[in-house]
Amino acid sequence: MKMAAGNWKMNKTPNEAVEFIQNLKDKVKDAETEVVVAVPYVAIPAVVETCKGTNIKVGAQNVHWEDSGAYTGEVSCSMLKELGVQYVIIGHSERREYFAETDETVNKKAHAILNAGMTPIICCGESLTQREQGVTKEHIRYQIKIALLGLTKEQVSKLVIAYEPIWAIGTGKTATAQQAEEACYVIRELVKELYDEETAESVRILYGGSVKASNAKELFDMPNIDGGLIGGASLKLDEYVAIVNYNK
Ligand code: G3H
Repeated sequence: MKMAAGNWKMNKTPNEAVEFIQNLKDKVKDAETEVVVAVPYVAIPAVVETCKGTNIKVGAQNVHWEDSGAYTGEVSCSMLKELGVQYVIIGHSERREYFAETDETVNKKAHAILNAGMTPIICCGESLTQREQGVTKEHIRYQIKIALLGLTKEQVSKLVIAYEPIWAIGTGKTATAQQAEEACYVIRELVKELYDEETAESVRILYGGSVKASNAKELFDMPNIDGGLIGGASLKLDEYVAIVNYNK
């Protein structure tokens, strides 16, 4: 099943989030796509409540790798798990750029999330300079190789990996379906190399970067693209519904 994961980033208050989900739930109830909304921490309890009895799953946009302790401002996996969170985005390029996320912290977070019984959505992707220098493949292989360090085959088979070229995020410049497919293929081949074919087949690989209703079908129909991680378009009800129902 393809996945349409909305990354709301720092948007919508808890009340606005609930209103959005109330309007969304009926419109996606027959979706053949897995629907995930990664909302701001403070909206999680209300959104989980509103999503009860629906096919909408709730995600967080970050987490700390330790379970508790003196980490002012941070939130742990057991806190998210207790609220009913199922997915956690880690390694987003905005967190790497503004909040010092590194491949090593992504790896620690991946372990913690899986150990808590949730699913990481691990982001990777190259900058425009890296693409122009022809090192896209090496860069995403490096990022994912470190992110997966120490994870078992069983753990990796449950993962979601999102390929998000930085130059396509929030810019309106979508990677062509061919470019996105090539990068997602590189990731699947790497998982095959590090684990085996079965694991590579079961890991889900999303594309993110200016996904919208008008390009979702072309992207999601690619053989190695299992759906999208959607930013801006996931905040607009009709646009997001059209992405979720891209195949109808
Ligand atoms: O996590 C989502 C990505 O950053 C994509 O954002 O769809 O606004 O380009 P965007």
